[in-house]
This record gives sequence, structure tokens and C-alpha cells, in this order.
Amino acid sequence: MNIVILAAGQGKRMHSNLPKVLHPLAGKALVSHVIDTARSLAPQRVCIVYGHGGEAVRAAITAPDLVWVLQEPQLGTGHALMQALPQLAAAGTTLVLYGDVPLTRVETLQRLLHAARDSLAVLTVELDDPTGYGRIVRNAAGDVARIVEQKDASPDERTIREINTGIMALPTARLAEWLGCLSNDNAQREYYLTDIVGMAVAAGLPVRTAQPESAAEVLGVNSKVQLAELERVAQRRIADQLLTQGVRLADPARIDVRGELVCGRDVFIDINCVFEGRVVLDEAVEVGPSCVLKNAHIGSGARLAAFSHIEDAIVGPDGVIGPFARLRPGTELGPGVHVGNFVELKNSRFAAQSKANHLAYVGDAVVGSRVNIGAGTITCNYDGANKFQTVIEDDAFIGSDTQLVAPVTVGRGATLGAGTTLTRDAPPDTLTISRARQTSISGWKRPQKIRK
Ligand code: UD1
Ligand code: CA
Repeated sequence: MNIVILAAGQGKRMHSNLPKVLHPLAGKALVSHVIDTARSLAPQRVCIVYGHGGEAVRAAITAPDLVWVLQEPQLGTGHALMQALPQLAAAGTTLVLYGDVPLTRVETLQRLLHAARDSLAVLTVELDDPTGYGRIVRNAAGDVARIVEQKDASPDERTIREINTGIMALPTARLAEWLGCLSNDNAQREYYLTDIVGMAVAAGLPVRTAQPESAAEVLGVNSKVQLAELERVAQRRIADQLLTQGVRLADPARIDVRGELVCGRDVFIDINCVFEGRVVLDEAVEVGPSCVLKNAHIGSGARLAAFSHIEDAIVGPDGVIGPFARLRPGTELGPGVHVGNFVELKNSRFAAQSKANHLAYVGDAVVGSRVNIGAGTITCNYDGANKFQTVIEDDAFIGSDTQLVAPVTVGRGATLGAGTTLTRDAPPDTLTISRARQTSISGWKRPQKIRK
């Protein structure tokens, strides 16, 4: 079996410099959805027909197994398939997909391929408003006779509600002959792939149809409005899959997964969370409202409170994060670590049970177990040119409003007094403090406003 993905169309109505099929749906380019669906049917070849400006598409989709075919100029869907013909394995079926129709289910295509096993099959759907689509014309016996494009259709034919989705399965051995017979003698002066249907009927082949479970499977993207509509469909599908697996969602209409979200048992996700890249939530993780997670692994039983932002980071089991915590790339937290509000961590490891509960910045640090980092603590990791590491050993206590001027080490069990600016290593099990001594001046008078 061959699969040909037609993607030479221009997509003017997207009003964008990005080629249409590269626009993201659920975090993945439209055409990549189609390619992934194609791959799961295990075809011999996947050809992509691309057109003017399509070099950007070719450059963005790097996969060694794809065959790229340039169609220039674009003279219609039949002409597009003609360009791919020399690349196709001669035997079996050729399945035609559109690069801008991203949500077709594999099972639907399997049904279509089954219907095409000894001839040709078209994926059709009945629409309340079929305007613009090619119509499926059937004879008195109800068999498919041909497809007529909207612009070529008679008023009677325009009342037909069964439309051509454009997705077809064709016998490859007959394609050279049929495509060679196409003419552009029609309203659009194009070579219509759809004319092949009439040819197959004339050759005595039965033309069968298959239908998708829902019309959304065959919707194409021509505008940002349609892209936004399909995004909601895609998100609802993902939410339904998560619910089916046993994930509890506060509202399946208010979650956005732009990549892969892997969940263990008894995970709960509150509203308005965004997941990007690959995110793994282990068993019994709770994600509060409005969290953003990108390429993250959250250990079992961890709780992320509202508005936490986590990217390229690992949270250990039973971690307590947020609200308003920011874990930047390279953050790795051990079991039971607490990170509270307005705490920013970057490229830092925290071992078990350590805490930074309020208003802190910890960057390029290695923090031991059971360390307490007080409010307002900052690692001064950057001198304007280079970055340096801070090491805080087990059981250290960092008083509030402390600056740790890296490179610097706080020894095991050390205590830093509040307000300390640490520029040299703090010895273990010792209080280190750098602070002007407090004095009280008796008899001191507040300044008075000068009268003029
Ligand atoms: C086509 C079908 C129509 C069907 C509709 C479904 C034909 C003649 N008509 O209409 O029956 O109802 O799709 O949306 O096939 N493309 C190329 N090269 C070209 C022209 C198109 O690669 O020269 C690609 C486009 O990128 C797109 C697909 O083919 O992915 C369909 O093109 P489009 O112009 O949208 O087809 P329609 O004329 O709307
Ligand atoms: Ca179209």
C-alpha cells in the first residue's frame, strides 16, 4: 500500500508566513498528524506532494522514510497525484490523504481500505450544508456513479448532501491509465482526481464508500477559524482519552495538551492547565488550576498548587510545589521537597525533604537533604560574565534575606543568620552571619519640616 499526502495547496486564507500544513494543532504540525496516521497503517511508501513555498515544509518535517514530490504549477488534485505516480509501488492500493485534514482516525481509514480491497473507495460524509464540496452522485440503484464538483454541478446535484471528503483508496495498477485520461475541461480548468470515480464505474468496477464516525474526522483547515475549531476537537479527544484511562479532570473542556501527557492512576488535573512536550504525572499527582508544565516528570503523590510553571524539570514523589512556583530547566527535586510561592529554581538539585517556601531564587545550586531556605534568599550565581555554583550541604539552615555569592559552599548543618551576604564558605555546624551590629541611639530626634 502507498499513501500520498496532498499538500501543495497554498493556504492563502491563513494570512500567515508559515505554510498552512505547518500550523500546530495540539502542539504538532497539521501535516505531522497526517504523517503519523499514515505511518500507523504501515504503508510501503508515504509520498508528500508539496508546492510553491513548500521548501519550508520539507525542511521542517525531517523523516528519512518520506518521499517528497514537487508539484509546480498546481493544476488540481488529479495533477498532484500524477506527480507522485512514478514514486509509487505498482501493486496494491494507493490511499490519498490531505495534508490539511489532521484528525482522521486510523480505524476509519482501515474501513476505507477494506471497502477498496478489490476496487476503489471514497470516504464520504453527509453534511447539512454541503456548499463548496464535491457531491457524490448515485444512480437509481444507489451505487456511486461519479463525483461532481460544486462549481460544475447542476442545481439538482447541488442539493445532494453526501460529499466527497477527498480521502480515497485507489487501485495503483489502474492509476497510470486513469490519470492519463483526465482532462481539465471543467469550470476550474483543473485536473480533478474525482473524475477517476466515473472512469472506474465505466470500467465496470464497483465504487464503494466508507464513512467516518464523526464529521470532525474529515474537516480540513483553510483558515484560523477552522484551525481553532479543530484544536477544540483535538483537545476534547485527548481529554476523553485521559478520562477513559481514569484521570480525573475538573473540566474536560478546560485542559490543553500540546504534546504527550502520560498519567498514572488517580491523577487529578484542575482547570486551565497546559501541558507541552512530554509530561509524565506519576500515580496520585494533583495538578492545581492554571499550571503550565513542559517536558516535566512529576513523582507520585506530588501536589502542584495553582499557577505553578514547570519546564524541563523533575519533581520527586510527594513534592509540594506552588502556588506561583517557577521551576526552570535543570531543576531536579528529590522526595518530599517543598517549593512555595514566588520561588524560582533553575539548574538546581534539591535532595529529599528540603524546603524553599517563600520568595527565593536558587540557580546553579546543589542542595542537600532537609535544608531550609528562608524567604528572600538569593543565589548570586552570575557575575555578569560567568555562572558559578552554590553548594548547600545536608541540614543547613539559610536565614531569610540571604545572598549566597557563588562559588560558595554552606557546610553540613551550618546556619546562616538572616541578612547574611555570604562570600566565603560557611563551615559546618556553625552560625555564620554577616550583618552590621544593631545599635539604638537614644535621644535621637526625627527631622522637622523646614518652614519658609
Ligand atoms: C477537493 C475535491 C472535492 C472535495 C474537497 C474536500 C477535487 C477535484 N475536489 O476540492 O471533491 O469535496 O476536496 O475538501 O479533488 N492540492 C494539491 N495540488 C493541487 C490542488 C490541491 O496538492 O493542485 C491539495 C491541497 O493542498 C489540499 C487538497 O489537495 O490538501 C485539496 O485541495 P483543495 O483545493 O482544498 O480541493 P477542493 O478544490 O476544495
Ligand atoms: Ca478545500
